[in-house]
Amino acid sequence: MTDISALQAFLPCATPRAWIDWALENPDLLMIDHAHCEKKAASTALNLMFRYVDRPELLDALSQLAREELLHFEQVVKMMRERGVRYDHLSPSRYAQGLRRHVRTSEPGRLVDTLIIGALIEARSCERFAALAPHVDEELGRYYRYLLKSESRHFEDYLDLARRYSDTDIEDRMAFFKEKERALIEEPDEAFRFHSGVPE
Ligand SMILES: [Fe+2]
Ligand SMILES: [Fe+2]
Repeated sequence: MTDISALQAFLPCATPRAWIDWALENPDLLMIDHAHCEKKAASTALNLMFRYVDRPELLDALSQLAREELLHFEQVVKMMRERGVRYDHLSPSRYAQGLRRHVRTSEPGRLVDTLIIGALIEARSCERFAALAPHVDEELGRYYRYLLKSESRHFEDYLDLARRYSDTDIEDRMAFFKEKERALIEEPDEAFRFHSGVPE
């Protein structure tokens, strides 16, 4: 199994057991939101590629990332069809917005913050796949373990880009977003989603 200890150490907390139980009670929602998350991950990467055309390392890393996320999207949707799970619209969880509302408005702060958030989202997704894998059926467990490899690389890519494009040390900014992330993961949430907190 892929070694994810680096991203587990990076995250401010582990996924609470209450969220895992919530996920197991909502297998269809879990798959539908997972599909949306893969699509959103591709879309976030593409948006950055449109906004920062003058950053070659970003273009290279995020172009590959976007392709991988779309491949994941296709895989999840295929699995949903095989299982008779209907793909549908879903309101997003508070998670990504709860992080992005703190993004600075001037550059390069805006870029660096967005990249740090990208690293957090990738790390959390990866950590959740690993946490879920032992509890779901064999096919899904195998698939989640397969995802760990690319998602842990995506985490590293975002972090490398954040360090590259920041003109100062990013430790303070990372600590700031980690605390926000911890609250979104540990505090009660209204609706179950892949990145939700715990049930109320
Ligand atoms: Fe993905
Ligand atoms: Fe990813």
